[in-house]
Amino acid sequence: MQPAPVTKYRSFPPVSLPNRQWPNRTLTRAPIWCSVDLRDGNQALAQPMSVEEKLEYFELLVGIGFKEIEVGFPSASQIEFDFCRRLIEERRIPDDVAIQILCQCREELITRSIEAMRGAKNAIFHLYNSTSPAQRRHVFNASRADIVQIAAQGTTWVKQHARSLVDAGTRMRFEYSPESFTSTELDFALEVCETVTDIWQPTPADKIILNLPATVEYATPNVHADQIEWMATHLRRRDCTLISLHTHNDRGTGIAATELALLAGADRVEGTLFGNGERTGNLDIVTVALNLYTHGIHPGLDFSNINAIREVYERCTRLEVPARQPYAGELVFTAFSGSHQDAIKKSWAAQKPEAPWDVLYIPIDPADIGRSYRAIIRINSQSGKGGVAYVLEHEFGFTLPKLMHKEIGRIINDVADARGTELSAQDLHAVFRQEYLERTTPISLQAFKTAESDSNVRCEATLTIDGQTHQLTGEGNGPIDAFTRALSTTDLPKFEVLSYAEHSLGKGSEARAVSYIQIKTGRGHSLFGAGIDTNIELASIKAIVSALNRALARS
Ligand code: KIV
Ligand code: ZN
Repeated sequence: MQPAPVTKYRSFPPVSLPNRQWPNRTLTRAPIWCSVDLRDGNQALAQPMSVEEKLEYFELLVGIGFKEIEVGFPSASQIEFDFCRRLIEERRIPDDVAIQILCQCREELITRSIEAMRGAKNAIFHLYNSTSPAQRRHVFNASRADIVQIAAQGTTWVKQHARSLVDAGTRMRFEYSPESFTSTELDFALEVCETVTDIWQPTPADKIILNLPATVEYATPNVHADQIEWMATHLRRRDCTLISLHTHNDRGTGIAATELALLAGADRVEGTLFGNGERTGNLDIVTVALNLYTHGIHPGLDFSNINAIREVYERCTRLEVPARQPYAGELVFTAFSGSHQDAIKKSWAAQKPEAPWDVLYIPIDPADIGRSYRAIIRINSQSGKGGVAYVLEHEFGFTLPKLMHKEIGRIINDVADARGTELSAQDLHAVFRQEYLERTTPISLQAFKTAESDSNVRCEATLTIDGQTHQLTGEGNGPIDAFTRALSTTDLPKFEVLSYAEHSLGKGSEARAVSYIQIKTGRGHSLFGAGIDTNIELASIKAIVSALNRALARS
């Protein structure tokens, strides 16, 4: 990088818009969406989709609910021409879906595109030419007037050649893009758009689509919004125009630029699923749509099964949705931080089904987009006790006493640290079982029975301690007390019971009891044991044995 001062780059000129309105507005409705996955997105793939893949992808887009789908650049490639023909001839396009094709302002390309569209019920002819000073200078060696003339001539040809399609029953709409709009002088972009509109002669019932692309994103989103508001307030036939956005993501702010430009008055959004597209990509429509949804506005697109959508996307594009991609990424419903896990657990427990969604750290109910609650908490060495307790409860039915959360959290973190990996729910369960439920050394309970007389309980227990069998008896005010007293007759460390909790595990004839007992040893250590049995009394005795075995392992 150049050391400061940075003279190699310039700041982007702001738009003079003293009366700008967009900052005070709120989004209240969804825009018209147009998928450009099969054109802009496909053009950007190292290995473009095959026709079969495109057909599958087209169906995916229709299933999501797109009513406008750019299907390619048929005059530029035979594959794109054939794909367009197959869609039409095999009647794969629902009546309420318009296919859109892209074309440059050259007559032979326009006539070829018209041929590709023949027989379509609903179609959008998307014409473009580039308008920015740098494009005019470096690529076209053309003046402003030349550029206006290219757009005007192109539009005239489209109008002329489309007549045969319209006569044959196609509902043909027209979209014009001043490519590199955001790098174009606004007055000139307006001039080109007005010229094209003059020729097309749209009406309020049959509007022209003026697509104003951020072909390369150079400015901050507020400048983009200013550019759109400037156009929206200067166009002479705003009532006959749909203003369309087409952002790219070179500065990583394509989504923000789109959202602010919608506030600025745009009606329509072009983009791709998960933001595939040249360089840093096109706008990610999934994110903008679900951002609207999480503000209470239905986007009109259905992402109820985002995993299935992602699967088709990844297979057809051979790209991977990044793990942190909003809504769709592998890790976006995963909380690693202990304090986050705790907050999620508490707020989720307080969430009423009919109340507005208010779970901390998770701005959308994962179930709304077909994602699972199970994926929410993963455990690694940074996880907190709350996450561990959550998984044991929600995945395996163990409601650990609150006081035990810290202890099990520490054990799990040590295991995760030692393994250096994240632990799955199954790993967690296995560690819990080994640490608490399956401890049979040095003490193993062989038999236990009680008899009650008056308010006293007498117990007889058979234990092996370091392989030696011991018959013990004890009396107390309950089985736990009696067993504790029986143990006090041995050489085992002395202890007192601090707390006891139990609940049932499972339902019906399969139900068992699980007990958790906290003991304090003579050395002042307090720790838990846990036991499971179909007999609740036995579960608590096993929990004492578990706690003692754990105490002995520490000493
Ligand atoms: O990014 C762009 O400017 C385009 C146009 C062709 C609309 O894709
Ligand atoms: Zn583009």
